[in-house]
Amino acid sequence: MKVAIIGTGYVGLTTGVTLAFLGHEVTCLDVDAAKIAQLNQGISPIYEPHLDELMKAARSRLKFSTSASDALSQAEVIFIAVGTPSLADGNPNLTYLKSAAEAVGEHIQNPYVVIVNKSTVPIGSGNWVESLVRDAFRSKNSGSKSQFVVASNPEFLREGSALQDMLYADRVVVGSDDEKAISTMRKLYQPLIEQTFTPPSFLPRPENFKMVNFLSSDLQSAELIKYAANAFLALKVSFINEISELSEKVGADISHVAKGIGLDTRIGNKFLQAGLGWGGSCFAKDTAALISTGKEYGLPMVITQAAKDVNTRQRIRMVEILANELKILKGRKIGILGLAFKPFTDDLRDAPAFDVAQKLIDRGAKVIGFDPIAMNRAKKEWAQSEIQFAETAEAVFEEADAVLLITEWPEFLDINFSKSKEKMKNPLILDGRNHLDPVAIKKAGLKMITLGRSS
Ligand code: UDX
Repeated sequence: MKVAIIGTGYVGLTTGVTLAFLGHEVTCLDVDAAKIAQLNQGISPIYEPHLDELMKAARSRLKFSTSASDALSQAEVIFIAVGTPSLADGNPNLTYLKSAAEAVGEHIQNPYVVIVNKSTVPIGSGNWVESLVRDAFRSKNSGSKSQFVVASNPEFLREGSALQDMLYADRVVVGSDDEKAISTMRKLYQPLIEQTFTPPSFLPRPENFKMVNFLSSDLQSAELIKYAANAFLALKVSFINEISELSEKVGADISHVAKGIGLDTRIGNKFLQAGLGWGGSCFAKDTAALISTGKEYGLPMVITQAAKDVNTRQRIRMVEILANELKILKGRKIGILGLAFKPFTDDLRDAPAFDVAQKLIDRGAKVIGFDPIAMNRAKKEWAQSEIQFAETAEAVFEEADAVLLITEWPEFLDINFSKSKEKMKNPLILDGRNHLDPVAIKKAGLKMITLGRSS
């Protein structure tokens, strides 16, 4: 089928490349000419494991363009995957979505087009998107017969494993009040649902993986599934972090507590990794949008709000623990291992590292950070801050009064801690992700404090 994707960010690009790999003719549209030029050279502007390889494998069915008419006029399915960053009041900024919807209305020509909204939007705004497309359509096409329907197809991709999550999804959810839109989307995802595609060598099909559940529903339910799923995952992380603070006080070990409750199949062992909590663009944005939607109906959404409050507190706790250890933060030198909001991505959105570093700098400390993948992006996006950057993980230990592990990159386990300790002014490491082996760190002569274990 002919597919257009508007927006070549973490969601748009991953979706477009995967659909092209599955056999569809895909044109990815973006207003950023530099990004499109990079993509046309086969270079991905974002770090996502295997994305470059999959782009190469699907190259013959992939086009990248800045021209809306090229991308949209022949499309049968159009995905809108533009950013909807949170405004200061927690509501999403919908300007990009508005201009994308208008571009669709102005350029569609096919007799029947399904417009899929992948951007995170307040629930029920699918109808708003439809009215924007209709108005733009009417202003451009008096006689044309094009019929279009807006559908919701929420994405459940985790950054760092987005391609895996898409090719071997737990479920595909499509929401629309139009049966034909549902069947069009089912046809689009057919190779995924039935797993009839030949897996890429670098992303093999998991053992015994057979089919992907296809769930269709009305528009609002599909939108709410996305928010509810993310809010629940955020809640699960905040729950274990609330328990981790108590476990420090009572002398328990949160990794044992998490394992013990996770063995209950009704709870499950995922998203119970205690530590600095969640970052990234989705959890913060989706919980904020859920709360603001609730507010519109006079619902306080107390559980979702509590998940956010506990999460915010985790970063403050890390600074408090450090201040408690060092007494004075002013003039201290603090090393930070890991800047990306989580491993296997270069995404810095709502990264705990930035928040913690800023709090330390505000209290007069010097901060020097390292990240194996996100460094270049951090040097650009954090240029206005006073955060300094080290070229190697070991360099953050030089003259440091403490080192904080903030993102659990596997390579940090290979650091020679006894050698690095020799460079430190004070042999203290705070493990914000319960990532390091306490025995090995102790053997190396460092004092280690973790969130969730009494030190
Ligand atoms: C999330 C959802 O998982 C995904 O379905 C949705 O489409 C987008 O948002 P993502 O934000 O990429 O994906 O990362 P995820 O792996 O879900 O982790 C979210 C945050 O929670 C990260 O900051 C991670 O460090 C943190 N986390 C995750 C924990 O602190 N503990 C855990 O046990 C798991």
